[in-house]
Amino acid sequence: MDTKVWEINIDQLKDKDTENKLDEIKTALTYGEVVGIPTETVYGLAGDARNSEAIQKIFSAKGRPGDNPLIVHIHSVEQLDGFTEPRDPKVKTLMKHFWPGPISFILPLKGSMLSSNTVAELNSVAVRMPSHPVGHAILEHVGFPLAAPSANLSGKPSPTHYRHVIDDLNGKVYGVVASDSATFGLESTVLDCTQYPYRIARPGSITKAELESVLKETVNRHEDEVNAEKPISPGMKYKHYAPRQPLAVIEGGLKNNTYIEVTEDRKIGIIAPENCRGYVPEGALFISLCSSEDAYREAGRNLYAALRKMDKSDVDLIYIHGFPKSAETEALMNRIYKATGDEVIKDDHL
Ligand code: TXA
Ligand code: MG
Repeated sequence: MDTKVWEINIDQLKDKDTENKLDEIKTALTYGEVVGIPTETVYGLAGDARNSEAIQKIFSAKGRPGDNPLIVHIHSVEQLDGFTEPRDPKVKTLMKHFWPGPISFILPLKGSMLSSNTVAELNSVAVRMPSHPVGHAILEHVGFPLAAPSANLSGKPSPTHYRHVIDDLNGKVYGVVASDSATFGLESTVLDCTQYPYRIARPGSITKAELESVLKETVNRHEDEVNAEKPISPGMKYKHYAPRQPLAVIEGGLKNNTYIEVTEDRKIGIIAPENCRGYVPEGALFISLCSSEDAYREAGRNLYAALRKMDKSDVDLIYIHGFPKSAETEALMNRIYKATGDEVIKDDHL
């Protein structure tokens, strides 16, 4: 069975034809099917968060370990009352400020409305309200909460285009919604609000400084904590976002690189900003990540597509431009290092 594709662009949301497509999507989800949906971060693989069979389909299609909980997506904060404890006023402030948008909050779980495999048997739940108009319209039309991890095969780069979902999951999922691209391209910030001070379990587009300026208090980074080797988000312990070839970060950036050598017996791929093109050694395959070295947002938006393109190419080894450490590059460099397997691979190890 091929995966069904519904095309819904943002400017078609009011069309009669779109209404019919939304009805079909609702029916599929109501009957426990799973569907790839667009969000402003990456595509999600959505299923009814209350239906254990639908959730099982998500885990099987992705090949995802069962101990890695899913984020539950909603369209209105009222939906939270069904499955989380009364929220701290500070969480409400953050939700008001950043939702709909690229941030997920881990909250205490209440009751048995959600299927236990959605939260991997934990007593907490991560929740998010996406801002992508099509993703949001689907959630509104469906009416019940949708569990949705990124719609890629586990370990592969997340999908930022519906074609990426098809590449990974064709025939394994009921359908996918083809829509306008993601504006962020990196997954949401995950903030653990089950303890004080709140802590960032996964960096994302919303930075620590932005959170602190709204909260008017300190937010921790999980990686700075004493017990940082024990992940809060089970998903953070797995290798992620990786193309099939070895990947190395060019620390200091392509312009300062001194060690890349093109030899006859291995083909090299380089992912770097367009303005570094002149520094690409002859014979290497170049994929432009963004216009210049400080276009971090653009780099975030294009990162996964670039990694996927390299994955499909005939290169044996990939180098990627390393951006300088800053609040704005934190999520971007976090994903890049994860894609390398979380270690700086020196050239002589490859
Ligand atoms: O931007 C996003 O967050 C995308 C889109 C589709 O919304 N979703 C996404 O989901 O990235 P996923 O499953 O690929 O990543 C969810 C992360 C994992 O690291 C998981 O372990 C963590 O959130 N997580 C989910 N529920 C949790 C919980 N109750 N406690 C701790 N970590 C949790
Ligand atoms: Mg993921």
